[in-house]
Amino acid sequence: MSEKKSYYVTTPIYYPSDNFHIGHCYTTVIADALARYKKLKGYDVYFLTGSDEHGQKLEDRANKAGVTPKEFIDPIIENAKDLWKSLDIEYDKFIRTTDDEHVACVQKIMQKLYDQGDIYKGAYEGWYCTPCESFWTESQLVDGKCPDCGREVKMTKEDAYFLKLSKYQPKLESYLKEHPELMQPVSRYNEMYNNFLKPGLKDLCVSRTSVKWGIPVTFDPNQTVYVWVDALSNYISALGYLSDDDSKFKKYWPADLHLVGKEIFRFHTIIWPIMLMALGLELPKKVYGHGWLTIGGGKISKSKGNYKDPRVFIKDYGVDTVRYFLLSEVPFGSDGNFSEELMVERRNADLCNVLGNLVNRTVSMANKYFGGTVTKNVNYTELDEEVVSFLNSMNDEVDAKMEQLDIPNSLKLIFSRVERLNKYIDETTPWTLAKSEETKGRLNDVLYTILDGIRMASLELQAYIPSTSKRIFEQLGLSDVSFDNYAFGSVDSYKVTEKPEILFARIDEEELKKKLEAEAEPAVEPVKHKDEIEFTDFDKVEMVVGQVTECSKHPDADKILVFNVDFGYEQRQILSGVAAYYKPEELVGKKVVAVMNLKPRKIRGLMSNGMLLSAVKEVDGKEKLELVSSDMPIGSIVC
Ligand code: MSP
Repeated sequence: MSEKKSYYVTTPIYYPSDNFHIGHCYTTVIADALARYKKLKGYDVYFLTGSDEHGQKLEDRANKAGVTPKEFIDPIIENAKDLWKSLDIEYDKFIRTTDDEHVACVQKIMQKLYDQGDIYKGAYEGWYCTPCESFWTESQLVDGKCPDCGREVKMTKEDAYFLKLSKYQPKLESYLKEHPELMQPVSRYNEMYNNFLKPGLKDLCVSRTSVKWGIPVTFDPNQTVYVWVDALSNYISALGYLSDDDSKFKKYWPADLHLVGKEIFRFHTIIWPIMLMALGLELPKKVYGHGWLTIGGGKISKSKGNYKDPRVFIKDYGVDTVRYFLLSEVPFGSDGNFSEELMVERRNADLCNVLGNLVNRTVSMANKYFGGTVTKNVNYTELDEEVVSFLNSMNDEVDAKMEQLDIPNSLKLIFSRVERLNKYIDETTPWTLAKSEETKGRLNDVLYTILDGIRMASLELQAYIPSTSKRIFEQLGLSDVSFDNYAFGSVDSYKVTEKPEILFARIDEEELKKKLEAEAEPAVEPVKHKDEIEFTDFDKVEMVVGQVTECSKHPDADKILVFNVDFGYEQRQILSGVAAYYKPEELVGKKVVAVMNLKPRKIRGLMSNGMLLSAVKEVDGKEKLELVSSDMPIGSIVC
């Protein structure tokens, strides 16, 4: 027997989060559908997902919670696995970058690159975005901020090790010329070329001294491995690369497909290929950068109030409503909008009216007219010929679309068959055929054509909405289904279940609208007020308008600015933690409001005599802050 062809597909490894939203499910559901599809087509599939568990941000979060990073992460990972399970994600391995095997592999990769001279010691100076764990050059910053997330970046200088990206640039460029298919959609090549390759690649800083929660560098234990080198290596460490048992690596590498969101495409198409070239390994066959799922055209975020745990949707509408929406709605590669209404609209229109309705009507008719048993159609009419040939062409057409990773259109092709069968019912009007004994034979043939068409469509749908396919096969009385017997007519006779089961009950869209409106009302999270105070308490606070005459950075505290404020009748030194929001020089001359009678206190060696008022709010996941100002003359009392 010839060996099965292998297919290795990966998702990115996710940052541990308790707040996975529907956007996070997008990559994983797509990867799952592709993996299932290839499995059904006889491939030996390996589907990898996992979690990316190192870095400063995680250490900070764990510190805040008063536990070790590992203690902090473990329950989050269980929660993520539970989400994937509820979405019917059938991965072969869930890798954690804290797994011993992964850590050992990354250390060996770093050591190998160091030993062969591709990693060298230097000093790093650059703009670092802590949330994104990315270094940026001056020219890449947008308005002085991180081009990915728009947050503040910090100039960082420290001893570090560098990977010679520049050495490999020509090799990568010529590889990409010969293999433009590596980057999918191919249009993303221009973006990568113009933004990263054309300006010339700078060597990449691949270690940090300031990040403690990371994989120690073996040749310099003061350093930890840069999180992206750590994270990208998961694709080969998971297969046992450089371990005692690398049989999986031999079998599955190079990856057939890395599926990633567009914002991390550059890491996968520039840094990762160069790491692999330096290791003397083959490059992945394809990296697909998909677009983002948006809400109201914007980012999905908890602070926007548009976040719901995807498990709520699964509970309310069933897993296949969610999977179907994610797989069908967004043109692959582009951004696409998500809303609960839209998802329900699709469910009602396609899953309920087209698919559910067809199965329900057909199973009912088979019961009503033939006690559930329908035998093979052997007397094709011209109409049957047309329908059967349309059904038989489905597989190749779907295959071609799946090959292009065009999942939405592959689903459309399947649904076009389901729609055709609904039309066929209208054309053949089985209820009329049932009226006379003479047309009973024709009625059997018609019902067989529909049942067998449903079987063929459901075979295809197993990759996309597996639990629905399973329920359909049960209703058709089929226990053994396979693409090996795909062609129309492969089943001799059907014995359908006695009672058709409703696959997708219709959701009342008006009712849903009302429910969502009601939910939207407290969009602003109920504010937890502080305890009430007496007027006499409030009156104790003395607030006065002043003007900043001098402002400078605190010599020993990054976040703090030192103000000299003129109140007309006196000058005061006041310290305020607003360095992340203002440059000192832009504050000179600004009117501010100060609490005058707050007990003076020393902050890192400097006295603060009072406090400046500021307004703070989280907007789009970012903290916004503004010092409270007033146009009143200095010395005015605020009350
Ligand atoms: N840890 C890195 C990946 C390292 S891979 C070597 C990371 N993690 S992530 O949790 O931030 O993102 C995981 C995936 O979720 C990414 O592909 C990202 O694009 C995807 N999505 C997160 N929000 C999304 C949407 N709103 N829409 C679509 N995909 C989104 O990046």
